Amino acid sequence: MRYVNLAGTRVPTIGQGTWYMGEDPGSKAAEVAALQQGINLGLSLIDTAEMYAEGGAEQVVGQAIAGRRDQVFLVSKVYPHNASRRGLPTACERSLKRLGTECIDLYLLHWRGQHPLEETVEAFERLIEQGKIRRWGVSNFDLDDLQELDNPACATNQVLYNPAERGIEFDLLPWSRQQQLPTMAYCPLAQAGRLLHHPVLAEIAARHAATPAQVSLAWVTRGEGVIAIPKAVSPAHVRLNAAAQDLVLTEADLQAIDLAFAAPTRKQRLAMM
Ligand SMILES: NC(=O)c1ccc[n+]([C@@H]2O[C@H](COP(=O)([O-])OP(=O)(O)OC[C@H]3O[C@@H](n4cnc5c(N)ncnc54)[C@H](OP(=O)(O)O)[C@@H]3O)[C@@H](O)[C@H]2O)c1
Repeated sequence: MRYVNLAGTRVPTIGQGTWYMGEDPGSKAAEVAALQQGINLGLSLIDTAEMYAEGGAEQVVGQAIAGRRDQVFLVSKVYPHNASRRGLPTACERSLKRLGTECIDLYLLHWRGQHPLEETVEAFERLIEQGKIRRWGVSNFDLDDLQELDNPACATNQVLYNPAERGIEFDLLPWSRQQQLPTMAYCPLAQAGRLLHHPVLAEIAARHAATPAQVSLAWVTRGEGVIAIPKAVSPAHVRLNAAAQDLVLTEADLQAIDLAFAAPTRKQRLAMM
């Protein structure tokens, strides 16, 4: 297993996402079981947000981690419209209740909104003082946003990254590495769309007796300081995602991916979902 130092904690390079969980009551048991299976297999970082199913995903996570909170590194995100001096503490309180915990390990601003960054940061810092969160970070921040934020206390930036979305490699990722700011890569499987049927990923997968999804995860986490957070409900997917931590791509594999999905040669606007 490979690890990244995130907010002072050693976390595995592959975690678990939760977008679309908590939407259908009929699927809740399977979602809880998938997250628990993931924790058992070492996928101990769980990423959620108040936005997902309007709190429903946090409730699924709460159920999955009940009685084993200490085995999990918990990440949640606040809506930008709640990221004010008064709104942030109440949003956090609601999240804590749904998650059934007293403290969120890493609390992120989901994307930039209308509230001044200094006000959000001040509110995050107060939550740390009160023991409601351990650290704070951001999501969907491009390089200029991070430079404007200019705050070494920021513990991560969570952004879209997979072989078909390599824009961050031009400037954001190298800068983040230089600042020792870990990157959390969301949609590392491009939401299981066309990417997973790409013949080049299929060919590489066949060479390693792996799957295209595992190749995508190994590729996303190939460098320093990147954590991938695939979401999986199917037990087979959870197993494959955990096993992807052992897949190491060769130079030839990486070159083949570069040929199929060119690295950026100029600045691209940060892609978002
Ligand atoms: N900060 C942000 O703005 C932001 C935006 C988007 C996402 N996120 C976070 O990032 C997480 C991941 O992104 P995402 O959920 O949008 O997309 P994703 O993880 O790229 O893809 C999820 C899809 O891939 C399937 N899948 C999982 N493992 C697989 C495997 N080994 N083989 C084949 N298919 C597999 C899942 O199916 P099953 O579920 O059926 O197993 C699901 O349909 C989210 O859940 C969320 O926590 C953050």
